[in-house]
Amino acid sequence: MKKILITGCNGQLGKALNTLWAARTDLELVNTDVAELDITKIENVLKFASEVKPYAIVNCAAHTAVDACETQEELAFRINAMGPRNLSIAATENGAKMIQISTDYVFPGTSPEPLNEMAPTGPVSAYGRTKLAGEEYTKSFADKWFILRTAWLYGDGKNFVRTLMNVAEKNDEVRVVNDQFGSPTSAAELAKAIDSLLLTDNYGLFHATCEGQTNWADFTEEFFRLAGVKTRVNKISTAEYGAAAARPAYSVLDNMMFRNTSGYTFADWREAIAVYMKENY
Ligand SMILES: NC(=O)c1ccc[n+]([C@@H]2O[C@H](COP(=O)([O-])OP(=O)(O)OC[C@H]3O[C@@H](n4cnc5c(N)ncnc54)[C@H](OP(=O)(O)O)[C@@H]3O)[C@@H](O)[C@H]2O)c1
Repeated sequence: MKKILITGCNGQLGKALNTLWAARTDLELVNTDVAELDITKIENVLKFASEVKPYAIVNCAAHTAVDACETQEELAFRINAMGPRNLSIAATENGAKMIQISTDYVFPGTSPEPLNEMAPTGPVSAYGRTKLAGEEYTKSFADKWFILRTAWLYGDGKNFVRTLMNVAEKNDEVRVVNDQFGSPTSAAELAKAIDSLLLTDNYGLFHATCEGQTNWADFTEEFFRLAGVKTRVNKISTAEYGAAAARPAYSVLDNMMFRNTSGYTFADWREAIAVYMKENY
């Protein structure tokens, strides 16, 4: 049995991995969230990992509140950068594989074309900066690492789809930006992509998003349509919305490494959101 140490197991990705791997007889899942293993505490991480002796560590823990990170950059650094650093050191000490999850928000968003794994980074937010630092620490300290950059993630937890579905219950109209482009990705699709790499030696940096692209307003119209919600989507600009954190205007990712390694193909974002809405609404 291969032991898989999952951190942040109560989050969207942690839950999706548990669903996917529930019936696996070759994997033993060691589930932890901040109460069992705070990834910011290196002594705890090293002790825990030396007791478990995992085959792989999947870091699903993060500070994902993008706007809050602007005023909590040091906290975000501890979780998003020092956390993967600590886990990577522990992975190396125990001969384990390290799987780190990153984000399209490491990019500035100025490219007019989908970004592959060679595209230059340049985060425009505190969240993006801390996640990029987490990537760099993972590369420096883990021997056997996979870094998967995903985007616009939704699953079982707090996410954009749930927030907008809740707002729609009490409003005839919602205001949503239509000038940020990306690829909404379901946690279930990301979990399958991780699974396609887990037992391989295809190490490296992977772009890991659903196929196709959209903007937040059109995405909203699509899941409202799927759920039969009649609330109108009032399309506004990023400037009009005025969020605390800057976000890339265009961060569509090209999954070049997946095409050339495990061959895992993500569903198109429209298919993935249709599955999610059917299961949840
Ligand atoms: N959500 C997105 O749209 C998105 C987009 C791109 C990339 N990503 C990346 O994808 C990964 C998974 O995201 P997600 O949406 O599944 O995250 P999530 O739902 O926010 O879950 C993160 C989990 O980590 C826990 N956590 C926070 N601090 C911790 C600590 N110090 N030690 C251990 N656990 C801690 C959180 O607990 P609390 O809830 O108690 O804080 C939560 O259970 C993250 O690396 C994220 O950066 C997410």
